[in-house]
Amino acid sequence: MKKRFLGALLSTAIVVTSLAGCGSAAPANEAPVQTATIENEETPKAAAPDSSSDGKLVVGFAQIGQESGWRDAETMSIQNYAKEHADEVELKFADAQQKQENQIKAIKSFIEQDVDVIGLAPVVETGWDQVFAEAQDAGIPIILLDRTADVDESLYATFIGSDFIEEGKLAAQNMAELIGKKGKIVELEGTVGASAATDRKTGFDEEIAANYPDIEIVASQTGDFTRAQGKEVMESFLKSNPDIVGVYAHNDDMALGAIEAIKEAGLKPGEDIVTVSVDGVKGIFEAMVAGEANCTVECNPLLGPLFFETAAKLKKGESVEKWVKSVDGVFTQDVAKDAIDGRAY
Ligand code: AHR
Repeated sequence: MKKRFLGALLSTAIVVTSLAGCGSAAPANEAPVQTATIENEETPKAAAPDSSSDGKLVVGFAQIGQESGWRDAETMSIQNYAKEHADEVELKFADAQQKQENQIKAIKSFIEQDVDVIGLAPVVETGWDQVFAEAQDAGIPIILLDRTADVDESLYATFIGSDFIEEGKLAAQNMAELIGKKGKIVELEGTVGASAATDRKTGFDEEIAANYPDIEIVASQTGDFTRAQGKEVMESFLKSNPDIVGVYAHNDDMALGAIEAIKEAGLKPGEDIVTVSVDGVKGIFEAMVAGEANCTVECNPLLGPLFFETAAKLKKGESVEKWVKSVDGVFTQDVAKDAIDGRAY
Protein backbone atom coordinates (compact mmCIF):
# COMPACT_ATOMS: atom_id res chain seq x y z
CA MET A 1 0.00 0.00 0.00
CA LYS A 2 1.28 3.42 -0.92
CA LYS A 3 2.11 6.06 1.63
CA ARG A 4 -0.36 8.90 1.58
CA PHE A 5 0.65 12.51 1.02
CA LEU A 6 1.01 14.42 4.26
CA GLY A 7 0.50 17.96 3.03
CA ALA A 8 0.90 19.43 6.50
CA LEU A 9 4.47 18.16 6.68
CA LEU A 10 5.49 20.41 3.81
CA SER A 11 5.98 24.17 4.01
CA THR A 12 4.56 24.33 0.51
CA ALA A 13 1.15 25.24 -0.81
CA ILE A 14 0.05 22.65 -3.30
CA VAL A 15 -3.03 23.45 -5.31
CA VAL A 16 -4.35 20.28 -6.84
CA THR A 17 -6.88 20.37 -9.59
CA SER A 18 -8.32 17.71 -11.79
CA LEU A 19 -8.41 18.45 -15.50
CA ALA A 20 -11.36 16.14 -16.01
CA GLY A 21 -14.65 17.75 -15.09
CA CYS A 22 -13.14 21.26 -15.18
CA GLY A 23 -14.49 22.28 -18.53
CA SER A 24 -11.43 21.04 -20.38
CA ALA A 25 -11.69 19.48 -23.82
CA ALA A 26 -10.81 16.08 -22.35
CA PRO A 27 -13.19 13.25 -23.26
CA ALA A 28 -15.53 12.26 -20.43
CA ASN A 29 -13.98 8.82 -19.96
CA GLU A 30 -10.54 10.24 -19.22
CA ALA A 31 -9.14 9.87 -15.73
CA PRO A 32 -7.92 13.03 -14.05
CA VAL A 33 -4.42 14.38 -14.37
CA GLN A 34 -3.46 16.03 -11.10
CA THR A 35 -1.98 19.45 -11.59
CA ALA A 36 -0.11 21.05 -8.73
CA THR A 37 1.05 24.64 -8.67
CA ILE A 38 3.82 24.94 -6.15
CA GLU A 39 3.84 28.26 -4.35
CA ASN A 40 6.08 29.82 -1.75
CA GLU A 41 3.72 29.89 1.18
CA GLU A 42 3.91 28.54 4.67
CA THR A 43 0.48 26.95 4.90
CA PRO A 44 -0.71 24.33 2.45
CA LYS A 45 -3.94 25.30 0.67
CA ALA A 46 -4.89 21.73 -0.04
CA ALA A 47 -3.36 18.33 0.22
CA ALA A 48 -3.30 15.91 -2.67
CA PRO A 49 -6.41 13.72 -2.82
CA ASP A 50 -6.22 10.30 -1.26
CA SER A 51 -6.35 8.53 -4.59
CA SER A 52 -5.62 4.89 -5.11
CA SER A 53 -3.32 4.04 -8.00
CA ASP A 54 -4.98 0.64 -8.61
CA GLY A 55 -1.72 -0.90 -9.79
CA LYS A 56 -1.11 1.92 -12.25
CA LEU A 57 2.27 3.44 -13.02
CA VAL A 58 2.33 6.50 -10.75
CA VAL A 59 4.63 9.24 -11.98
CA GLY A 60 5.38 12.67 -10.53
CA PHE A 61 6.68 15.28 -12.95
CA ALA A 62 8.23 18.58 -11.83
CA GLN A 63 7.99 20.91 -14.82
CA ILE A 64 9.99 24.15 -14.99
CA GLY A 65 7.12 26.47 -15.89
CA GLN A 66 5.67 28.05 -19.01
CA GLU A 67 8.48 30.21 -20.34
CA SER A 68 8.21 29.25 -24.00
CA GLY A 69 6.06 27.67 -26.69
CA TRP A 70 8.47 24.73 -26.62
CA ARG A 71 7.88 24.21 -22.88
CA ASP A 72 4.09 24.28 -23.40
CA ALA A 73 4.45 21.65 -26.14
CA GLU A 74 6.44 19.41 -23.79
CA THR A 75 3.84 19.81 -21.04
CA MET A 76 1.02 18.96 -23.47
CA SER A 77 2.92 15.89 -24.67
CA ILE A 78 3.24 14.61 -21.10
CA GLN A 79 -0.29 15.45 -20.01
CA ASN A 80 -1.90 14.13 -23.20
CA TYR A 81 -0.10 10.81 -22.89
CA ALA A 82 -1.32 10.50 -19.30
CA LYS A 83 -4.90 11.25 -20.36
CA GLU A 84 -4.81 8.86 -23.27
CA HIS A 85 -3.39 6.07 -21.08
CA ALA A 86 -5.41 6.84 -17.97
CA ASP A 87 -6.14 3.14 -17.42
CA GLU A 88 -2.41 2.44 -16.95
CA VAL A 89 -0.89 5.72 -15.81
CA GLU A 90 -1.43 8.28 -13.06
CA LEU A 91 0.38 11.61 -13.43
CA LYS A 92 1.06 14.04 -10.61
CA PHE A 93 2.15 17.24 -12.34
CA ALA A 94 3.78 20.27 -10.71
CA ASP A 95 4.42 23.62 -12.40
CA ALA A 96 7.37 25.17 -10.55
CA GLN A 97 6.99 28.63 -12.05
CA GLN A 98 10.67 28.84 -13.07
CA LYS A 99 11.94 28.31 -9.50
CA GLN A 100 14.34 25.54 -8.47
CA GLU A 101 13.10 25.71 -4.88
CA ASN A 102 9.62 24.85 -6.13
CA GLN A 103 10.93 21.92 -8.15
CA ILE A 104 12.72 20.63 -5.04
CA LYS A 105 9.50 20.96 -3.01
CA ALA A 106 7.61 19.09 -5.72
CA ILE A 107 10.17 16.26 -5.70
CA LYS A 108 9.94 16.02 -1.91
CA SER A 109 6.15 15.81 -2.14
CA PHE A 110 6.41 13.07 -4.79
CA ILE A 111 8.73 11.14 -2.48
CA GLU A 112 6.22 11.61 0.33
CA GLN A 113 3.48 10.26 -1.94
CA ASP A 114 5.69 7.26 -2.77
CA VAL A 115 5.31 7.59 -6.55
CA ASP A 116 6.92 4.91 -8.74
CA VAL A 117 9.09 7.27 -10.78
CA ILE A 118 9.96 10.99 -10.63
CA GLY A 119 10.47 13.07 -13.77
CA LEU A 120 12.24 16.41 -13.73
CA ALA A 121 13.20 19.06 -16.26
CA PRO A 122 15.82 20.84 -14.12
CA VAL A 123 15.53 24.63 -14.42
CA VAL A 124 19.25 24.90 -13.58
CA GLU A 125 22.02 22.30 -13.52
CA THR A 126 23.37 22.55 -9.97
CA GLY A 127 21.89 22.11 -6.50
CA TRP A 128 20.16 18.74 -6.92
CA ASP A 129 22.41 16.35 -5.00
CA GLN A 130 20.53 16.29 -1.73
CA VAL A 131 17.00 15.85 -3.04
CA PHE A 132 18.13 13.26 -5.62
CA ALA A 133 19.80 11.33 -2.79
CA GLU A 134 16.51 11.48 -0.85
CA ALA A 135 14.67 9.98 -3.84
CA GLN A 136 17.33 7.30 -4.16
CA ASP A 137 17.06 6.45 -0.45
CA ALA A 138 13.30 6.07 -0.96
CA GLY A 139 13.95 3.73 -3.91
CA ILE A 140 12.38 6.09 -6.47
CA PRO A 141 14.25 6.45 -9.78
CA ILE A 142 14.61 9.88 -11.37
CA ILE A 143 14.27 10.56 -15.09
CA LEU A 144 15.83 13.82 -16.29
CA LEU A 145 13.74 15.10 -19.15
CA ASP A 146 15.11 17.54 -21.74
CA ARG A 147 17.70 19.20 -19.46
CA THR A 148 20.60 17.68 -17.56
CA ALA A 149 21.64 18.09 -13.91
CA ASP A 150 25.19 18.39 -12.65
CA VAL A 151 25.13 15.41 -10.29
CA ASP A 152 26.84 12.04 -10.07
CA GLU A 153 25.37 9.67 -12.68
CA SER A 154 24.42 7.21 -9.95
CA LEU A 155 21.80 9.66 -8.65
CA TYR A 156 19.49 9.46 -11.69
CA ALA A 157 18.30 6.64 -13.92
CA THR A 158 18.45 8.28 -17.33
CA PHE A 159 18.45 11.53 -19.29
CA ILE A 160 16.02 11.77 -22.21
CA GLY A 161 16.72 14.72 -24.49
CA SER A 162 18.77 16.46 -27.13
CA ASP A 163 22.48 17.13 -27.48
CA PHE A 164 22.57 20.87 -26.73
CA ILE A 165 26.25 21.27 -27.61
CA GLU A 166 25.57 19.78 -31.03
CA GLU A 167 22.60 22.16 -31.44
CA GLY A 168 24.93 25.09 -30.75
CA LYS A 169 27.45 23.83 -33.31
CA LEU A 170 24.77 23.39 -35.98
CA ALA A 171 23.48 26.87 -35.22
CA ALA A 172 27.01 28.30 -35.68
CA GLN A 173 27.53 26.52 -39.00
CA ASN A 174 24.20 27.81 -40.32
CA MET A 175 24.90 31.33 -39.05
CA ALA A 176 28.27 31.26 -40.84
CA GLU A 177 26.64 30.23 -44.11
CA LEU A 178 23.98 32.91 -43.81
CA ILE A 179 26.42 35.80 -43.25
CA GLY A 180 29.15 34.71 -45.67
CA LYS A 181 31.45 33.64 -42.82
CA LYS A 182 32.11 37.20 -41.66
CA GLY A 183 30.60 40.00 -39.60
CA LYS A 184 29.51 40.99 -36.11
CA ILE A 185 26.77 39.01 -34.41
CA VAL A 186 25.00 38.95 -31.05
CA GLU A 187 23.85 36.07 -28.86
CA LEU A 188 20.67 35.81 -26.77
CA GLU A 189 21.30 33.27 -24.03
CA GLY A 190 18.75 31.13 -22.22
CA THR A 191 18.24 30.91 -18.46
CA VAL A 192 21.49 31.40 -16.55
CA GLY A 193 22.68 28.04 -15.19
CA ALA A 194 20.37 25.92 -17.39
CA SER A 195 22.08 23.14 -19.32
CA ALA A 196 20.20 24.19 -22.46
CA ALA A 197 21.78 27.65 -22.22
CA THR A 198 25.27 26.65 -21.07
CA ASP A 199 25.70 23.93 -23.69
CA ARG A 200 24.12 25.83 -26.59
CA LYS A 201 26.53 28.67 -25.83
CA THR A 202 29.52 26.35 -25.56
CA GLY A 203 28.70 24.57 -28.83
CA PHE A 204 28.09 27.81 -30.74
CA ASP A 205 30.97 29.89 -29.36
CA GLU A 206 33.52 27.09 -29.72
CA GLU A 207 32.48 26.33 -33.30
CA ILE A 208 32.74 30.02 -34.26
CA ALA A 209 36.13 30.40 -32.52
CA ALA A 210 37.51 27.24 -34.12
CA ASN A 211 36.36 27.70 -37.71
CA TYR A 212 35.22 31.23 -38.46
CA PRO A 213 37.91 33.79 -37.55
CA ASP A 214 36.07 36.64 -39.29
CA ILE A 215 32.90 36.27 -37.25
CA GLU A 216 32.85 38.24 -34.00
CA ILE A 217 30.30 37.72 -31.21
CA VAL A 218 30.14 41.32 -29.98
CA ALA A 219 27.56 40.85 -27.23
CA SER A 220 26.00 37.91 -25.39
CA GLN A 221 23.37 38.23 -22.67
CA THR A 222 20.56 36.22 -21.14
CA GLY A 223 16.96 36.66 -22.30
CA ASP A 224 15.82 33.86 -19.96
CA PHE A 225 14.24 31.87 -22.82
CA THR A 226 11.28 34.29 -23.03
CA ARG A 227 10.00 36.32 -25.95
CA ALA A 228 9.63 39.48 -23.82
CA GLN A 229 13.21 39.41 -22.56
CA GLY A 230 14.52 38.43 -25.98
CA LYS A 231 12.96 41.60 -27.34
CA GLU A 232 14.21 43.77 -24.49
CA VAL A 233 17.81 42.54 -24.71
CA MET A 234 17.82 42.83 -28.50
CA GLU A 235 16.69 46.45 -28.22
CA SER A 236 19.75 47.25 -26.11
CA PHE A 237 22.03 45.19 -28.40
CA LEU A 238 20.81 47.23 -31.40
CA LYS A 239 21.52 50.51 -29.64
CA SER A 240 25.12 49.63 -28.76
CA ASN A 241 25.90 47.52 -31.85
CA PRO A 242 24.31 49.16 -34.90
CA ASP A 243 26.46 47.21 -37.37
CA ILE A 244 25.49 43.63 -36.46
CA VAL A 245 24.50 41.23 -39.23
CA GLY A 246 23.10 38.32 -37.23
CA VAL A 247 21.49 37.20 -33.99
CA TYR A 248 21.79 33.72 -32.50
CA ALA A 249 19.09 32.96 -29.92
CA HIS A 250 19.17 29.92 -27.67
CA ASN A 251 15.45 29.44 -28.35
CA ASP A 252 12.87 30.47 -30.92
CA ASP A 253 10.80 32.53 -28.49
CA MET A 254 13.73 34.89 -27.86
CA ALA A 255 14.35 35.05 -31.63
CA LEU A 256 10.71 36.05 -32.13
CA GLY A 257 11.18 38.82 -29.55
CA ALA A 258 14.38 39.91 -31.31
CA ILE A 259 12.52 40.06 -34.64
CA GLU A 260 10.04 42.50 -33.08
CA ALA A 261 12.92 44.65 -31.81
CA ILE A 262 14.64 44.62 -35.23
CA LYS A 263 11.43 45.73 -36.94
CA GLU A 264 10.84 48.49 -34.39
CA ALA A 265 14.40 49.71 -35.04
CA GLY A 266 13.43 50.20 -38.70
CA LEU A 267 15.43 47.22 -39.98
CA LYS A 268 14.37 44.08 -41.85
CA PRO A 269 14.75 40.86 -39.85
CA GLY A 270 15.81 38.00 -42.09
CA GLU A 271 17.63 40.41 -44.43
CA ASP A 272 19.44 43.23 -42.62
CA ILE A 273 19.92 41.00 -39.60
CA VAL A 274 19.61 37.24 -39.98
CA THR A 275 18.35 34.96 -37.22
CA VAL A 276 19.37 31.47 -36.15
CA SER A 277 17.65 29.92 -33.15
CA VAL A 278 16.81 26.59 -31.54
CA ASP A 279 13.53 24.67 -30.96
CA GLY A 280 11.47 24.51 -34.18
CA VAL A 281 8.19 25.93 -32.86
CA LYS A 282 5.40 26.86 -35.26
CA GLY A 283 5.94 30.60 -34.68
CA ILE A 284 9.48 30.53 -36.05
CA PHE A 285 8.29 28.59 -39.11
CA GLU A 286 5.69 31.30 -39.71
CA ALA A 287 8.44 33.91 -39.39
CA MET A 288 10.64 31.97 -41.84
CA VAL A 289 7.77 31.72 -44.33
CA ALA A 290 7.33 35.50 -43.97
CA GLY A 291 11.07 35.96 -44.64
CA GLU A 292 11.71 37.38 -41.16
CA ALA A 293 13.67 34.46 -39.66
CA ASN A 294 16.33 32.34 -41.33
CA CYS A 295 17.05 29.09 -39.53
CA THR A 296 15.96 26.96 -36.59
CA VAL A 297 17.74 23.95 -35.14
CA GLU A 298 15.06 21.54 -34.00
CA CYS A 299 14.84 20.32 -30.39
CA ASN A 300 12.05 17.81 -29.93
CA PRO A 301 9.69 18.60 -27.01
CA LEU A 302 7.28 15.72 -27.73
CA LEU A 303 8.87 13.51 -25.12
CA GLY A 304 5.74 12.33 -23.27
CA PRO A 305 5.46 8.83 -24.80
CA LEU A 306 9.16 8.04 -24.37
CA PHE A 307 9.09 9.41 -20.84
CA PHE A 308 6.24 7.13 -19.72
CA GLU A 309 7.59 4.10 -21.60
CA THR A 310 10.94 4.59 -19.84
CA ALA A 311 9.21 5.06 -16.48
CA ALA A 312 7.31 1.78 -17.03
CA LYS A 313 10.60 -0.02 -17.71
CA LEU A 314 12.14 1.41 -14.54
CA LYS A 315 9.13 0.32 -12.49
CA LYS A 316 9.61 -3.22 -13.81
CA GLY A 317 13.29 -3.06 -12.88
CA GLU A 318 14.47 -3.15 -16.51
CA SER A 319 17.66 -1.37 -17.44
CA VAL A 320 17.57 1.79 -19.53
CA GLU A 321 20.29 3.71 -21.35
CA LYS A 322 21.89 6.56 -19.43
CA TRP A 323 21.17 9.00 -22.29
CA VAL A 324 18.27 8.47 -24.66
CA LYS A 325 19.19 11.03 -27.29
CA SER A 326 16.61 12.84 -29.42
CA VAL A 327 17.15 12.99 -33.17
CA ASP A 328 16.63 16.56 -34.37
CA GLY A 329 16.77 18.32 -37.74
CA VAL A 330 17.72 21.78 -39.06
CA PHE A 331 15.21 23.93 -40.97
CA THR A 332 16.00 26.94 -43.11
CA GLN A 333 13.82 29.51 -44.89
CA ASP A 334 13.86 27.60 -48.18
CA VAL A 335 12.22 24.50 -46.68
CA ALA A 336 9.96 26.26 -44.15
CA LYS A 337 6.96 26.59 -46.45
CA ASP A 338 6.88 22.88 -47.24
CA ALA A 339 7.58 21.84 -43.65
CA ILE A 340 5.22 24.13 -41.76
CA ASP A 341 2.05 22.07 -42.17
CA GLY A 342 3.76 18.98 -40.81
CA ARG A 343 4.91 20.67 -37.64
CA ALA A 344 3.27 19.17 -34.56
CA TYR A 345 4.15 22.00 -32.18
O1 AHR B 1 15.34 22.82 -22.28
C1 AHR B 1 14.85 23.13 -23.52
C2 AHR B 1 14.66 24.61 -23.67
O2 AHR B 1 13.85 25.09 -22.65
C3 AHR B 1 13.96 25.06 -24.93
O3 AHR B 1 14.81 25.31 -25.98
C4 AHR B 1 13.37 26.34 -24.50
O4 AHR B 1 12.46 26.89 -25.38
C5 AHR B 1 12.86 25.94 -23.18
O5 AHR B 1 12.53 26.95 -22.38
